[in-house]
Amino acid sequence: MIILGIESSCDETAAAVLADQHTVLSSVVSSQVAVHHKYGGVVPELASRMHIEAIAPVVSEAVEQAGISLDDIEGVAVTRGPGLVGALLVGFSFAKAFAWARNLPWTGVNHLEGHIYSVLLSDDPPAFPFAALVASGGHTNIYHVASQDDFELMGQTRDDAAGEAFDKVAKMLGLGYPGGAVVEKLAAQGDPSRVKFPRTYLDKDGFDFSFSGLKSAVSRYIHLNKDNLEEMIPHIAAGFQAAVMDVLSFKLIHAAQAKGCKNIAMAGGVSANSALAIRVAADASKRGIRLYLPPKQLCGDNAAMIAARGHRLIQEGNLCQLDQDVFSRTRFL
Ligand code: KG4
Ligand code: ZN
Repeated sequence: MIILGIESSCDETAAAVLADQHTVLSSVVSSQVAVHHKYGGVVPELASRMHIEAIAPVVSEAVEQAGISLDDIEGVAVTRGPGLVGALLVGFSFAKAFAWARNLPWTGVNHLEGHIYSVLLSDDPPAFPFAALVASGGHTNIYHVASQDDFELMGQTRDDAAGEAFDKVAKMLGLGYPGGAVVEKLAAQGDPSRVKFPRTYLDKDGFDFSFSGLKSAVSRYIHLNKDNLEEMIPHIAAGFQAAVMDVLSFKLIHAAQAKGCKNIAMAGGVSANSALAIRVAADASKRGIRLYLPPKQLCGDNAAMIAARGHRLIQEGNLCQLDQDVFSRTRFL
């Protein structure tokens, strides 16, 4: 079944075509980063306007790259939430209209379930059950994924998301937005033991996160060391990243052990961090647990993962109706 996927929950307008649940024929992502960069974060109103401009050309390009015609599309999957309401509405309304005009089945996908499905799009996907960490600019969630349709939320951040912490630290260091990739690059040149930042585990048997204390500690350090900041930047980045990695790795592996899972997965923008992947894989393998990741180009927001989850929902008859709407915060996870 050929599915058109559409994603517009934040600052990426994306469309993808899937031939079946695992075969990506095309995945087009139009990023608005250049526009939001100068504001140091995503400006919701600008994001909505840019989605409106990008949505039709991005869908056309995905269809063209897939080598199909519009008539070949048999179903539509679109992100329904969580995300920025104005941004979500652009993709959702487009998908609704497209499916209605062509009389196609269509479904709304939970963005976070989409991220989990991105791992299933790798050449070597994990067997169920597994523990999954979805770490992005908006979320840091741990799930127990028992089957294709069974996602139990075990824990989440109580304040900042992991990617948001990367972005805020990058901003404090004058490195621009988004900050994950640049902090990772600088951290590789620094010594993580030069500046020791706090690790917040909250309840060590629980799976919730908190990154605001770490962010404040970095801010304090920068304030107190203004004079020789330049030479310390790589060490600050390395110290910060080490603190994030310690907590993410500990909690994810702990979640797998609590559920008796031999497999773990990471998804979302932060899972593109190679140092994190190497670290978690090493910690896991010492405990007989294996780490699975999405294909690198599907770590961040994309529509292939939405199409993959939507493929399953459509096959199960889990369809949306025209009077249904988007949601900004997680409802059914
Ligand atoms: O999944 P995503 O593309 O969008 C959201 O749903 O938020 O994630 C974007 C987040 C940003 O906060 C970005 O800084 C972070 O992922 N990120 C990274 C890396 N690449 C992107 N964080 C750490 N290391 C990276 N290499
Ligand atoms: Zn995302």
